Amino acid sequence: MTYQDEYGMSVNQPESFWQEKAAALPWFTQPKHILSKDENGMDRWFADGEMNTCYMAVDYHVEQGRGAQAALIYDSPVSDTKYTVSYAELQEKVAIFAGALQDKGVTKGDRVVIYMPMITEAVVAMLAVARLGAIHSVVFGGFAPNELAVRIDDAQPKVIVTASCGIEIQKIIPYKPLINEAIELAEHKPDSVIVLQRPQVVAELDRAHDADWTACVAAAKPVAPVPVKGTDPLYILYTSGTTGTPKGVVRDNGGHAVALHYSMKAIYDVDVGDVYWAASDVGWVVGHSYIVYGPLLKGCTTVVYEGKPVRTPDAGGFWRMCEEYKITTLFAAPTAFRAIKKEDPNGELIGQYDLSHLRNIFMAGERLDPPTYEWTVAKTGKPVIDHWWQTETGWAICGNLLGVETKAPKPGSATVPTPGFNVVILDDDGNALPANTQGSIAIKLPLPPSCLPSIWNNFPRFQESYLSEFPGYYCSGDGGYIDDDGYVFIMGRTDDVINIAGHRLSTGEMEEVVADHNAVAECTVIGVKDELKGQLPVGLVILKDGVEIDEATLFAELKAMMVKQIGPIACFKEALIVGRLPKTRSGKILRKILRQMADNQPYVVPSTIDDPASLDEIKDIMQSKGLI
Ligand code: COA
Ligand code: AMP
Repeated sequence: MTYQDEYGMSVNQPESFWQEKAAALPWFTQPKHILSKDENGMDRWFADGEMNTCYMAVDYHVEQGRGAQAALIYDSPVSDTKYTVSYAELQEKVAIFAGALQDKGVTKGDRVVIYMPMITEAVVAMLAVARLGAIHSVVFGGFAPNELAVRIDDAQPKVIVTASCGIEIQKIIPYKPLINEAIELAEHKPDSVIVLQRPQVVAELDRAHDADWTACVAAAKPVAPVPVKGTDPLYILYTSGTTGTPKGVVRDNGGHAVALHYSMKAIYDVDVGDVYWAASDVGWVVGHSYIVYGPLLKGCTTVVYEGKPVRTPDAGGFWRMCEEYKITTLFAAPTAFRAIKKEDPNGELIGQYDLSHLRNIFMAGERLDPPTYEWTVAKTGKPVIDHWWQTETGWAICGNLLGVETKAPKPGSATVPTPGFNVVILDDDGNALPANTQGSIAIKLPLPPSCLPSIWNNFPRFQESYLSEFPGYYCSGDGGYIDDDGYVFIMGRTDDVINIAGHRLSTGEMEEVVADHNAVAECTVIGVKDELKGQLPVGLVILKDGVEIDEATLFAELKAMMVKQIGPIACFKEALIVGRLPKTRSGKILRKILRQMADNQPYVVPSTIDDPASLDEIKDIMQSKGLI
């Protein structure tokens, strides 16, 4: 089967293509309606299939005789702990914790927020929620209480599951005070908060709704997987949009399981028993798809790593892991490799480890810049595969399909569209653009399995954000082009989303934080290039008349506000006091031009600009500060 055959079938006969892929999974009732419409008129996959994702990912493997195989490898250089959990042990832990959640009143369709560091109990909690047919919403530990509160109010969880602390590089972060603050800020109050006590910090369980994980588990009885429909939601994952309110991306059980199971062989070329490591965090989509569900659905061994690519303890951490656990497939964000390259430019640490089991290195989450690509290939001697995807899709939209047909890589390109994704480049009026012409990257409907059918409780926002710009297409929010050979080049976002160290954040949300400062009359936040983290946010600020504050003080105060409102991962870089901002005559800030200027991209100054000199003024300031 060539890539062309596989891809052609997926877009020309999507129903028979995906029916065949679905048949590879153990459904309770195989789906007969492969593609149908829901009440919103959205395409839905496998509506009448009955299944349970936790059963498919755990119990099924035990039934197949893989009970003794390692399901999870836990390696935590920050707490000096290592162990493995077999599939049989995982089944037991998940069934009991599902019982504990059931004792707290969680049933099918209820939401459970999980705010945990990279420990195996986070995976157990996610699978236990799925086992009950309930819906998890994992929130990344680097988000501040305010962000957590916004998610609590939107998802309205019955239970929150957390741990007593997270551990960063030489820094222990107690989680319980953050949870308490978030619950205080939120209007919705959960019935229970289950806390896993870690040895580094003992959390005070001082509120009526607090419960101890170990005590809950000791009192619980194991429960069996609850059947759900293919279209029932498995999880909500919040991601940054262009406004301050994050979008709750909804993921189906059926389409998700089918797409991820298919991707394990087609994209990553892994088989049952391979050791697959996505060095991300369960708080991000990569963690959901490729630390938890993908590898377990396939029957691989997956890795839960509580550490960083560098400084835990050194830039050899990734390679030590690859040797120690005979990892076959490594997946991380380019920023991780830039961090390693910075500390070990000649790859001396790489040479100290046996990487003979490692077959491929995959990268995603942000643009893979050619120098990082070349360095990683040269120093590891391994194929490096760029692939492009989004929280909204849950798996790669473009990649090099190693399990179908390997294409020659082109640095700077995420290679070709994944089967199921009909990728096109459109101009502002929605017309298809010819090869090598840059435009908006869109996907012709129907979207393949696993892609979001809606935003949680907000279909109008889903339509407005993704479907209204180009009718009949999903608008990705990324710009780029397709070359003569059909290779797709992703050039960056066309909206107010930026990517900091592989973390997706909204400049719109940051703008709201800056605007809250009492010295600020007007502002905008743009992403500037950063050698290590890809992009960093810079604020352009007009002060209120009569206010006197120096730039350094303003910056320090704004940075503290960012940490408090969004979290430390916001990494606010600089605040620049400017006299004016480029605007249209109707008073709208020309963010697109500022973004293009910051990216060193060519831009056309629109005729509607009110004050063209304002743009040159900002350019001069940014150049003088070495920001562009
Ligand atoms: N909980 C609490 N705080 C967190 C956190 C978490 N889970 N994750 C990050 N932070 C904090 C960090 O401690 C740091 O705080 P500080 O500014 O007070 O020191 C801040 O957020 C910024 O963190 P980060 O951007 O991660 O910077 P870093 O210097 O600690 O590490 C890298 C830099 C490149 C090593 C790191 O960003 C990295 O590993 N990136 C890969 C990201 C990734 O895998 N993304 C997933 C997408 S596929
Ligand atoms: P997230 O939803 O957090 O996974 O972020 C998705 C965004 O990250 C995309 O819309 C892109 O802007 C960017 N991104 C992810 N993978 C790639 C890639 N391989 N190349 C370029 N950009 C990428």
